[in-house]
Amino acid sequence: MDDYQKHTTKDGSLSLYSLSYEEGFHDRDGALRESINKYLFPAQLEQFSNTEKIVVLDVCMGLGYNTGCILEKLLQSNIKIEWHGLEIDQRPLNLGLNESTFQEIWSPKVLHFFSCLNKSGKWNEGFNEGTVHWGDARQKIYEIQDSIKFDLILLDPFSPQKCPELWSEEFITLLTERLSVEGRLITYSTAASIRASFKRAGLEIYSIIPSNDDKKKWSSGTVAVKKKLEQQFISKNCQLKDLSTRELEHLATRSSIPYRDPTGRADSKEIISIREIEQSKSQLINTSSWRKRWNTAQSQ
Ligand SMILES: C[S@@+](CC[C@H](N)C(=O)[O-])C[C@H]1O[C@@H](n2cnc3c(N)ncnc32)[C@H](O)[C@@H]1O
Repeated sequence: MDDYQKHTTKDGSLSLYSLSYEEGFHDRDGALRESINKYLFPAQLEQFSNTEKIVVLDVCMGLGYNTGCILEKLLQSNIKIEWHGLEIDQRPLNLGLNESTFQEIWSPKVLHFFSCLNKSGKWNEGFNEGTVHWGDARQKIYEIQDSIKFDLILLDPFSPQKCPELWSEEFITLLTERLSVEGRLITYSTAASIRASFKRAGLEIYSIIPSNDDKKKWSSGTVAVKKKLEQQFISKNCQLKDLSTRELEHLATRSSIPYRDPTGRADSKEIISIREIEQSKSQLINTSSWRKRWNTAQSQ
């Protein structure tokens, strides 16, 4: 486990810091709290209340918080669950399962789910089933039958600068093709490049409203869908809103230039350097002018 440092986040939940990516798995404010605010709430599971079956894809399962939170709710309903996970490293889940602070968070059913995946990569319980596809998500996604469309895609790689391969225009296009017509792709990322890639893939995007503890932030993430959401899901009291003028203008800056990985096998350095070249030649507005404009607007 030399690669990982364990730590307890402010809400008492366990998280990891990756020395190779030089980045944490979660917000320092709370691993569990982050999953609830940025994945569970924006999923608005009530929309599936009349659905017979839900198909979930967790991209970068890590310790499994995002899936764990969603399953805690779904397992209380009668909805049939088909779950798929993409993750390159089994060690985080294994490490979590050996920690009492992690075990204590979950109900016996969810803990059983994690243990099954850890042991065999598979979970079967009644009519529910799950498979984790260990390996590079870019290749492993092809192990999942093409005909399977996801109602929820939880996209949680390290940041685009650290792990651009899972934020590339091509990978996003692939995820879009696998999203069901009523499905939601949810991510913590608010990056212009990612949002612009979603839009270029034909998706409608919404901003995740920061929770009360995060009110200083302008957004807590992005939800992308194929069909515009009904107003009831984006009203003021909900978790989602249309993009503000500030966010829309962000999409017109150089930051919106995508990460490109046409072969699906490029390494992060290659992807970053190709993007930097494209940015240096771009006629788009400089992101620093956008930032300056909005910082000034805010302080007035
Ligand atoms: C930010 S962490 C995910 C946190 C996780 N959702 C959780 O709740 O703990 C990013 C994860 O991406 C995984 N990862 C990095 N590159 C990957 C790749 N090419 N394919 C699949 N998983 C990858 C890492 O092993 C790590 O577990």
